[in-house]
Amino acid sequence: MKTNLRLILSLGAIALFTLTLAAFSLSQDPWSVPDKYKNMKNTTGGKDSDGVGEELYAQHCKSCHGKEGFGDGTKAKELKTEMRDLSSKEVQSQTDGVLYYKGIIGRDEMPNFEKKIGDVEDRWMVVNYIRTMAE
Ligand code: HEC
Repeated sequence: MKTNLRLILSLGAIALFTLTLAAFSLSQDPWSVPDKYKNMKNTTGGKDSDGVGEELYAQHCKSCHGKEGFGDGTKAKELKTEMRDLSSKEVQSQTDGVLYYKGIIGRDEMPNFEKKIGDVEDRWMVVNYIRTMAE
């Protein structure tokens, strides 16, 4: 009887351990955004003037993030990294500076756009456009 209990307890412990591990590997690594970007001021007043941001988004971002930012672009299936829904509260609750860093500097499968979108004001327009996706 004693050994049975021990067996059940250890199986339980193994199951718990496996579940914790799975939960961890599913969640994304948090980004470390340098203070310089976190506190960066959006110099454009927050409006996507003349649809510049919308156009740049369609050209550079839509293929992965999808038309409405849901993460359902045509290239999304090829990616190993999960994308959060750009229209979601989790994404929208971040500062403009953080969105700028993630969306322009990027990391790993999120490409860097400093060359392709060279103009700082244009980059802010993309951030401003992402703001229009808010649920
Ligand atoms: C090749 C596919 C691809 C393209 C193109 C792409 N992204 Fe991403 N993006 C990703 C992936 C994958 C992630 C998740 C990265 C991670 O969490 O490590 C991501 C994450 C992001 C995030 C962070 C969202 C969050 O979780 O807070 C923002 C913002 C973002 N992208 C904006 C952009 C913008 C703006 C463009 C275009 C200028 C763009 N992306 C183009 C693949 C892409």
